[in-house]
Amino acid sequence: MSRIVLASHNPGKVAELRRILGGFDIVGLDEFPGAPDVAETELTFEGNALLKARAIAAFTGLPAVADDSGLCVDALNGMPGVLSARWSGRFGAAAGDRDTANLQLLLDQVADVADEARGAAFVCAAVLVVPGGAEHGAEGRMRGALIREPRGTGGFGYDPVFVPDGETRTTAEMAPEEKDAISHRGEAFRALAGIIAAADLT
Ligand code: IMP
Repeated sequence: MSRIVLASHNPGKVAELRRILGGFDIVGLDEFPGAPDVAETELTFEGNALLKARAIAAFTGLPAVADDSGLCVDALNGMPGVLSARWSGRFGAAAGDRDTANLQLLLDQVADVADEARGAAFVCAAVLVVPGGAEHGAEGRMRGALIREPRGTGGFGYDPVFVPDGETRTTAEMAPEEKDAISHRGEAFRALAGIIAAADLT
């Protein structure tokens, strides 16, 4: 079975990719002590995902998958975008505190935006880099709207204020598998799975 490394320490992401890429041996970065922690310095999701996948493919010698994602808000001209994780500037804070600060700042910024103009999209770029070989990419997108008060305890990040189109619940009120089925990350990983199945991984 071909081994593929996912450039992430997040066990949730590793499990999700394992569910989608059934025929492959998916391992996370926890299995590679000393793997580089790559700064996300590019201005696009795909650019950041490529930075991570290239570094991890070079470090491990294995085909590497990486993703980068964020929330693009219409009324903010597509921001926070690639800055989603760091929107409130709280770089050192624990993930939960940072998520809460990011979400509150975003809600304040769009407080005066009318209900019909509160559209947004979660976007995810997923890439595969084969060491010394090919690079492939796929994108996923989930459109929806921002509500005014957080609802739900599932998910992470901006989930409590995002209601996907055609839904009444926030993504924080959905079961993980329900969110996977419609999410930007699910869509990008599923598209990449088709590419990986057809790719030369050697
Ligand atoms: P990444 O880890 O660099 O891809 O940054 C992703 C950031 O975008 C997270 O910290 C969240 O703020 C936001 N984000 C991406 N995907 C989601 C999602 O599915 N739900 C909520 N927030 C998300």
